[in-house]
Amino acid sequence: MKVVHTAQDLAAWPRKGRRVVVMTMGALHDGHLALVRQARELGDQVVVTVFVNPLQFNESTDYERYPRDLEADVARLKGSGVDVVFAPADDTMYPDGVPAASVSAGEMGRVLEGAARPGHFDGVLTVVAKLLHLTQPDIAVFGAKDAQQVIAVRALVRDLNFPVEIATAPTVRDADGLAQSSRNVFLSASEREQALVLSRALNVADEQARNGVQVQNVLTQGRAMLESAPEVRVDYFTVMNPANAQPIDSDYRGEAVIAVAAHVGDTRLIDNVTTRIGPRDADPQGDAAWPAK
Ligand code: PAF
Repeated sequence: MKVVHTAQDLAAWPRKGRRVVVMTMGALHDGHLALVRQARELGDQVVVTVFVNPLQFNESTDYERYPRDLEADVARLKGSGVDVVFAPADDTMYPDGVPAASVSAGEMGRVLEGAARPGHFDGVLTVVAKLLHLTQPDIAVFGAKDAQQVIAVRALVRDLNFPVEIATAPTVRDADGLAQSSRNVFLSASEREQALVLSRALNVADEQARNGVQVQNVLTQGRAMLESAPEVRVDYFTVMNPANAQPIDSDYRGEAVIAVAAHVGDTRLIDNVTTRIGPRDADPQGDAAWPAK
């Protein structure tokens, strides 16, 4: 496994078969390794990018405290079938600081995660576009845990004609259901215990939605369950259309994503599950847009 830091060294690295990229901001955990495994299955050459992208943080403290340890990340990737790690410095990615030209996520960048973190998806799409140009993959694998990010990246490659296929890998969870996240290290033991209510509320909501309970009731009950945990502050708990990240209409039928964001203590966590609204054979609006569970 080679580690390169510059665009020139990456470009000089010979291409072999189908190239798959996994983009990360480092602080690698089992969830990232699952993305790498999926990448390995899908292609012949795997590139992992490690870059903490300043453009997607709207709070400088969040950016500064984001965990960075390239040596540990490289050690974690050893033996996982990665061919190249691309770990550019800030001035390789943004030589003039904030770039003059950037990508806008449009309306889908202003809802849910985008409402809580203005500019976040513009920053994500800008760095994803740059990393796609630099790594030139046939396939890029993203984690389903960042559901809105997957939706936005799909829109980017569709609307701006990037010649790349977007694949998703399922969320990796600890045995008790907590979705793995680089932010989990910030949770105290009691916060971690309370954070379990996120996946529990999602599972209950999924079951209710599949059993035909009205979406409004599903959401009311889910929010009440979340609010019963004293250190959990709900940001949103919603059912979104996997095609555009907007809340589903009352006549929506098909696959949908139940998504949650909540602060647990000072740490903001997100999670989601796919669900089905309405019977299996009724008007599957969302089926083509989102991978099955
Ligand atoms: O999901 C992430 O870790 C980041 O948003 C990404 C896709 C690597 C872009 O910085």
